[in-house]
This record gives sequence, structure tokens and C-alpha cells, in this order.
Amino acid sequence: MICTLYFLALLSSTTAFGRMGMWSKPRNETGGGNEDRCTCDAFLPSSTFPIKDLEVVEQMAGVISQKLEVEMGKIEEYETKITSYAEKIVKLTAEIVKMEKNPDDYNDADIEDVKVELIQVEALIKELQLSIKSSTAVFQSLQVQATQMVETLNKLEKTYDKSLVLATRREYIKVQTQLEECERRHQELFFPNIGSCAHTGVSRVGKPIVSHLNAHLSTSHNFGGWGKDSKPIPERESMYWFSSYTSPYIGDIYFYSNYKNLLLRTHFQHHSLHNSYKGNGNNYILHENTLYYQLSSPFGLGKLNFTTMSYQSRVIPGASSRFSYSNSPSQIFDFSSDETGLWVTYATEESSGRMIIAKIDELSFGIVEEWMTSIYKPGVSNAFMVCGVLYVIRTVDTHTEEIFYTFDTNTKEESYISIPFERFQDKYSNLHYNPTDQKLYMYNDGYYVTYHLWFNHTASVTVETPLLLNTSVE
Ligand SMILES: *[C@@H]1O[C@H](CO)[C@@H](O)[C@H](O)[C@H]1NC(C)=O
Ligand SMILES: *[C@@H]1O[C@H](CO)[C@@H](O)[C@H](O)[C@H]1NC(C)=O
Ligand SMILES: *[C@@H]1O[C@H](CO)[C@@H](O)[C@H](O)[C@H]1NC(C)=O
Repeated sequence: MICTLYFLALLSSTTAFGRMGMWSKPRNETGGGNEDRCTCDAFLPSSTFPIKDLEVVEQMAGVISQKLEVEMGKIEEYETKITSYAEKIVKLTAEIVKMEKNPDDYNDADIEDVKVELIQVEALIKELQLSIKSSTAVFQSLQVQATQMVETLNKLEKTYDKSLVLATRREYIKVQTQLEECERRHQELFFPNIGSCAHTGVSRVGKPIVSHLNAHLSTSHNFGGWGKDSKPIPERESMYWFSSYTSPYIGDIYFYSNYKNLLLRTHFQHHSLHNSYKGNGNNYILHENTLYYQLSSPFGLGKLNFTTMSYQSRVIPGASSRFSYSNSPSQIFDFSSDETGLWVTYATEESSGRMIIAKIDELSFGIVEEWMTSIYKPGVSNAFMVCGVLYVIRTVDTHTEEIFYTFDTNTKEESYISIPFERFQDKYSNLHYNPTDQKLYMYNDGYYVTYHLWFNHTASVTVETPLLLNTSVE
């Protein structure tokens, strides 16, 4: 308990740092006032010989570019570290709670082990804080240098032939773009802008974070799903859910008050669908404490509200049971939720197996609008929605999946892209996006797996939310 709170507190203090940092200030000052602000050691010659000036500017571009590459490498490394340490904290917390309950079961060596791990976590937190601080300072200093580059270029362009300066101007634009990209990634990692759609889409999928084998501790439970509620009701913000079976069928669903209890397999609620409201397929999600899933009979959509235990069903005329995803049978209706609401995808005979996106009205449980894509469903392995855009995935080889297609329901535009990501185990039966933490949740041959999503932001980040939202422990 102590260590998590400590971690979150430290991260909040880094948030304060972000607030006073460069993000909200005009980038004009060259020194003074702020101790974190780097002084710039670049100088510009006042010689009137332009070629020399240009050479200096070009050199500067090279130096900035190199520094940015180092920063980018660090950011990628921290992404992996932060996620794995967040899980370590949760596990340690659980262990400490157990120790407190049964102190006699543990000896000094056990306690020493936990202490060592706590010290490691603490060291990482310090390192992260320093990283945020030093990266911010590096960006500021590079920004100052870039500003000086452009000032020199402007001066040269006024005095001499513009075409002479053109190549160096291009160099400057390249560096400026690189700098913005680096700042964006840094900002996104430490202060993700949850809920925002001010981006041009997913730009990258992080490494798979494997939490655990499922609650039955069985790899024969290849079919199932797990995750968080995508629109949690009050008091259930940190709840996790899980369901699995040996075939594509929904039997039992379990609820855990938080991540720690998911790992400890201590549920606070369980519901059986063995006898009534039977479902199959594995593309169910939990949204507003309500399970949206594929019904066996009548073949259609099921909605089970766990707040009231009220149940609704819908038959989708034309939806065909012939078209499942490539990896798993019976995946006919695939539910998704994103920043804009609730969706389901499927295929029909009329569409010749091509995927149709349908927007669902949550209260009436009716279809509001439909969009036809050009993707033949049996050829792809899964799909999810983000900000009203469908992302479709195919299997590349035994270790690799690829987001290869998008359909934007806002503009009706489709495009082919390539965002590869690593698969942990061979088959997966449930993959969905959760807008509350911008992660992908995968049920991968019995394992719980998550992926951090990166976006190509178009607006500067305004919400300063520390990372690790989904790992807090009470
Ligand atoms: C930057 O500072 C200079 C001098 O201090 C001032 O004239 C100029 O307006 C400032 N530019 C911006 C964008 O604030
Ligand atoms: C990010 O968006 C910009 C335009 O906003 C675009 O030029 C660039 O290709 C995008 N990058 C990715 C990886 O989507
Ligand atoms: C579930 O039931 C509660 C109580 O009637 C209601 O407030 C809520 O809107 C329902 N949720 C959905 C998704 O229909």
C-alpha cells in the first residue's frame, strides 16, 4: 500500500514539474528565472560570409538531430520499464498485505527480499523523475538552438539569394519536425491525454505486457477475455473482469475490485451464463457495468446489465454466422467501445463476407448507423475502434500481428497502413481497446496481455494525467 501511494505521489510531483515546464510557455526565453532551463552554448558567427554561417547552421542541425535520437531511445526504454515496474509494485503490495496478515509465515530472508525489491522500485522512480527533468531541459535547450538556426536563416534570406539558403532551410525543417515528434512522445508517455481524439490515429503499438496466466491457471482455457470496464460506473473505476473456457463459449464471468485482486484471483462477484442468456464467440466487452456479447439463441446481440441484472437481446437481420475471424471460430459479432461510444462489427451474405461497422445506441440497444468496409472478415484476425475509426488486424507470422487497415466512420475514408506488433502466444480470442487508459487488452492463449497505444497527436496535451492509472491499489 505504502509503496504504491508513494509512487503515485512521486508521479504527481512530476506532474507539477510538467505544469511549470516548457509545454505551456512560449519558447522565447534564452535564460534566467528558471533553474531547469538550460543555457544555450551554441554561438552564431557574425561574419558576413554566408557560406560559413550556413555551415554552422548545418552542423547545429546535425548535433540536434543526434541528441534527439538519444532522447527517443530513452523514451522507448522508459515505456517498457514503467509498465513492468508498475506491475512489480502491485505484486509487492499484494505480498506485503499477505505478510501483514500472516507474519508468522515469513522469515527474515523473505522480508529482506521484499525490501530489496522496494529499493529497486524506488531507484527507478528517482531515475524516471530525473529523466522527465533532463529530457525537458534537453528539449528546451534544443528549441533555443533551433530558434537561433531559423533566425540566422531569416537574416541570410533577406540579405542573399533565397536559393542559396534553401538546402539549409530544409535541414532546419527536418530538425524542427524531429524535435516536435520527440517532445510529443515524451509528453504522451508521462502525461497521456486520455479521452482526447485530437490525433490523426494510432501511430504505434507498444510491447506486449504479459500480466499473468488466467484465474483458472490453465492454458487449456484458450478462449476468453479480460479487461476493464470501458465506461466504469462510480465505485467500480478500478474493477477488472475475466471470463474463459475451453471452447468459444461464455460460461462464467468474474469481477475483481482492482488489479491486485485480479492477480490474487480474489473476485467479489461472479455470474454464470451456463443456464440462461447463453453466449458464445469471444469478442465481448464490459461497458457501463453491462456485458455486451454474442448470443447463441436467438443468434444475435446480448446485453446484460449487472447493475440491475436486466437483459436485452437484438437480432441483426442479415448478419451471417458463416464469417468468423481467421484465428478463432464463432467470432461473428465483435463489440468495441471507444471515446465516442459503442460499436459492433460483423459480416453478411449480402456484403459477401466484408466487414460492416454498426454504431449501437446504448440505451435502446438499437443500431444507429452502418458503414460497409472492403475487408473480407475471414482473412483478418481481429479489429477494434478508436475515436470512431476501425482498425483491422491481420496475422503476419507466428510472432507478429499488424494493423493494416483503417476505416474512419467520420469521413467514410479507408486506408492501408502498417503498424506491426508482437504477439506473445500463438492464438488470441479477444482483443479490444479501452478508452479509459488507451490500452489494448488481449486474451492470448490463456494469458492476460496489454499493449500501450501511441497516437499521432495534432493538439498539444492539456490534461496532465500521471501514468499508471490502471494499477492503483487501495
Ligand atoms: C520574444 O522576445 C522578444 C524580446 O524579448 C520580443 O520582442 C518578442 O515579441 C517575443 N516573441 C514572442 C513570440 O513572445
Ligand atoms: C502524423 O500526422 C502527420 C500530419 O498530421 C502526418 O504527416 C504523419 O504521416 C502522421 N504519422 C503517422 C505515423 O501516422
Ligand atoms: C443499467 O441499469 C441502470 C439502472 O437501471 C441504468 O441506470 C443504466 O443506464 C443501465 N445501463 C445500460 C448500459 O443500459
